[in-house]
Amino acid sequence: MIPERKVAIVTGAARGLGRAIAFKLAQDGAMVSAWDLNREGVEETAQLIRDAGGEAIGLQCNSSKADQIAAAVAETRRALGPVSILVNNAALSPFLRFEDITEDIWDDLMAVNMKGPFLCCKAAIPDMVAQGWGRIVNISSSSAQAGSPLHAHYAASKGGVIGFTKGLALEYADRGITVNNVPPGFVNTEGLRESPVDVDGFADKTPMKRSGRPENIAAAVAFLASDDADYITGHTLSVNGGRYMN
Ligand SMILES: NC(=O)c1ccc[n+]([C@@H]2O[C@H](COP(=O)([O-])OP(=O)(O)OC[C@H]3O[C@@H](n4cnc5c(N)ncnc54)[C@H](O)[C@@H]3O)[C@@H](O)[C@H]2O)c1
Repeated sequence: MIPERKVAIVTGAARGLGRAIAFKLAQDGAMVSAWDLNREGVEETAQLIRDAGGEAIGLQCNSSKADQIAAAVAETRRALGPVSILVNNAALSPFLRFEDITEDIWDDLMAVNMKGPFLCCKAAIPDMVAQGWGRIVNISSSSAQAGSPLHAHYAASKGGVIGFTKGLALEYADRGITVNNVPPGFVNTEGLRESPVDVDGFADKTPMKRSGRPENIAAAVAFLASDDADYITGHTLSVNGGRYMN
C-alpha cells in the first residue's frame, strides 16, 4: 500500500546533489531525514527545507558505519515514521593516478561508496517490506559507464553500485520495492569544483556544452521515487547532457 506520508532518507545531504535531492523530495511532499558527516551542513539543509514549508530533520551520520546508521534510522522512525524512500548519495571521489591509489585509499573509498549503500539498504528495507512499498535510488556515475581519468577506484565502486542496484531490484521486485540508479554526468557542485577537474573545459566537451545543475539530478531521483515510477526497477537513468548514451 502507498504510504500516506513518505519518509525519505538522503545520505550525503549537507551540500551538492544530496541537498538538492532532499529539497526536491520535500517539495514533492516527503518528510526528509537528511544525513551527512557534516553536522552543520546537514542541519542547514533541514532548515532550508523547513523554511520552504517542508518537514525535515538533519542527522550527523557516517553512512558507512552500521552502528551510526542503526541510530540514525531509529531517530528517523521516532521523529518522522517508518522509512519509505532511501537515496544513497554520499560518496568519496578523489582524483588520483593509479600509481597513487594505495590499498588504504581503495578500502576507504569502497567502504563509503559501496558498503555504505549496502548497509543503508539493510537498515531501511525492513520498513519498506512491512509497508509493501519502497523506493531506493542509488547515485552512481557516468564515470562507471564511460570511464574517467584518475578515477579507476571511483569508477569501480560506481560500477559496483549499478550491479548492486540490479541484483537488489530483482530480489524485491515482487514486494512493492523498486531499486534504480541515477548516474550523473558533470554536475557543477562544490565537490566537483574542489577537484582538479576543469569544470568549464569538461562542460565544453559534452554534447550540450554545459555542466549539469543539481536540480537536473534531483528531478530524476524524485521521479524514480514517485508513485508514477512504480513499474520501473533495476533501471539506470542517465542524466548527463549526452556524455554517455546507454
Ligand atoms: N558532481 C558530479 O559531477 C557527480 C558526477 C557523477 C556522480 N556524482 C555522484 O553524486 C553524488 C554527490 O556528488 P556531489 O558532487 O554532490 O558530492 P559532494 O562531495 O559535493 O558532496 C558529498 C557529500 O557526501 C558527504 N559524505 C562523504 N562521505 C560520507 C559518509 N561516509 N557519510 C555521510 N556523508 C558523507 C560529504 O560530507 C558531502 O556533504 C556522489 O555519489 C557522487 O559520486 C557526482
